[in-house]
Amino acid sequence: MKLFLDTADVAVIRELAETGLVDGVTTNPSLIAKSGRNIAEVIAEICACVEGPVSAEVTATDLEGMISEGRHLAGIAGNVLVKLPLTWDGLKAARRFSQDGIGTNVTLCFSAAQALLAAKAGASFISPFVGRLDDHGADGLSLIEEIRDLYDQHGFETEVLAASLRTPAHVTGAALAGADAATLPPDIFRSLVKHPLTDRGLDQFLSDWRATGQTIL
Ligand code: E4P
Repeated sequence: MKLFLDTADVAVIRELAETGLVDGVTTNPSLIAKSGRNIAEVIAEICACVEGPVSAEVTATDLEGMISEGRHLAGIAGNVLVKLPLTWDGLKAARRFSQDGIGTNVTLCFSAAQALLAAKAGASFISPFVGRLDDHGADGLSLIEEIRDLYDQHGFETEVLAASLRTPAHVTGAALAGADAATLPPDIFRSLVKHPLTDRGLDQFLSDWRATGQTIL
């Protein structure tokens, strides 16, 4: 499963990309606003940090506006994915971009029916929002499972990108539910490596090793 970072903080992306485990980045208008920076500059810098797809979201809500903004964003770098909201105009734009060979990420997906439409529109990725569904009293991870089944049964090639993940259990749950990718806030990405027994075990090994007086080199 691919792991993306869900942030527009270039310094953090640069740092975490050094692990070699970051396959892409997602942004949204709220994350760009939080960065306090110009969207074109931020997206260009992010695209230089990672080889994989970098989602840049349109803010127009009408078809022609989405097409113009999307083309502009896609022109920033070869690895930009145009992120489009799950509305009729967003779906029409996804279809147009797909016909033009431009990758898309259809976002704000909260139902399997919406995911079906996005796949039919030729979206490269669909982003179901797990955490926001949980907040709403539903089971976000069940939606990932449902979309996986639906896409597999009908041979859709749209990739399932689990989004709005809030915990490490969301990440592993999305993986087990068959997501192709998951986008993680940096703190969740960092927390994936942690386990208290790993720390305790390493302390013990090193203390026993020091007692031998040996060195390997
Ligand atoms: C996905 O592409 C979104 O940017 C993101 O995952 C939304 O997460 P949130 O619900 O924590 O804002």
